[in-house]
Amino acid sequence: MAGVELKNVVKSFGAVTAVKDVDVTFDEGSFTTLLGPSGCGKTTILRMVAGLEAPTGGDILVAGKRVNDVPIHKRNLGLVFQNYALFPHRTIGQNIAFGLKYRGVSKSDAATKVKRALDIVRLPGVEDRYPTQLSGGQQQRIALARAIVIEPDVLLLDEPLSALDANLREEMRVELKAIQHRIGVTSIFVTHDQSEALAMSDKIIVMSDGKVQQVGAPEEVYNNPANEFVASFLGASNILDVTVAGSDQDSIALSTAHFGTIPVPRSRATNLGDGSSGRLVVRAEKLQLVVPGSKVTGVGAKGTVEAVDYQGQIARYFVKVGDLQLQAMNMIEGRPFGAGTEVTVQINPQDCSVLPAEVK
Ligand SMILES: Nc1ncnc2c1ncn2[C@@H]1O[C@H](COP(=O)(O)OP(=O)(O)OP(=O)(O)O)[C@@H](O)[C@H]1O
Ligand SMILES: [Mg+2]
Repeated sequence: MAGVELKNVVKSFGAVTAVKDVDVTFDEGSFTTLLGPSGCGKTTILRMVAGLEAPTGGDILVAGKRVNDVPIHKRNLGLVFQNYALFPHRTIGQNIAFGLKYRGVSKSDAATKVKRALDIVRLPGVEDRYPTQLSGGQQQRIALARAIVIEPDVLLLDEPLSALDANLREEMRVELKAIQHRIGVTSIFVTHDQSEALAMSDKIIVMSDGKVQQVGAPEEVYNNPANEFVASFLGASNILDVTVAGSDQDSIALSTAHFGTIPVPRSRATNLGDGSSGRLVVRAEKLQLVVPGSKVTGVGAKGTVEAVDYQGQIARYFVKVGDLQLQAMNMIEGRPFGAGTEVTVQINPQDCSVLPAEVK
């Protein structure tokens, strides 16, 4: 069932159309992420669901009911933003109980609900402290407690982790997902961080320039990008021009300028249009570098390492194959390849996906 639904939603600010005909569903009880670069319209969508912004066109439905004309205080929503914005001169207990007061909840009921919310975010017993007496991550959990204490129909999260440092951010994303799972609230999460989206979401909606580019489970959008934008926005991808050279029952033979012919399984080429050309996508971590002379599995081409970005257990290599510039992320066995090393770049046909050639 749909927790939230957007039907042909458009939002214009004067001459700028921030959201262009967006048609998406956020399933009841699920964790859905709006992912895309800065300015693509993510916050605008969240603000329209919240009632902070009215759509220029289309409908917004919550639990099947049209809410376009329902004011914000009548929509039962929990909001968490990047800056957790706790009231500094109020205690944690007062901060969390804020929304309850407006809903006419009695003092003793409020105290019970606050206690339960603090248990859920794993910070029991901090009611009487002040925000500055908590760490950034703890304050963000309080902001979450404040959003869920009202038992919202929908939880709206706009880059709630981006103000935290890297380690805490990774810890909190596990925590946040676990909390969402425990209370089962329909959640819409906004981020421009692809690893956050992949790690946390039941479903990802990839956006660019106000439009939805692809909707799917994390492994779906990662492994089967619908277009070049999605392929390059989610992780580092190598994209090669290919032409169809032939086909049999199981595979489609794609001819490339540098790797000869690659027999890509049909199931990996479902996006290929009717035309005889397309674009082959291979993830950087699937491109394998081996020393010349070793056995090549799949198809190979000779190349030269131009630069190395050492990352501990793995290295990102920038490799030149003829006039092609490729990226490979490989585990380091022994020592990383240095710049100038001659290598064989190998591609496993199973690891490829194919897109229609884009009209330039
Ligand atoms: N109140 C407004 N008035 C005019 N233009 C606006 C307004 N709010 C947003 N926009 C424009 O709409 C577009 C989408 O903005 P939005 O804030 O939704 O992007 P975003 O995807 O959340 O980006 P970010 O990742 O940077 O937060 C941008 O071009 C922005 O400049
Ligand atoms: Mg935003």
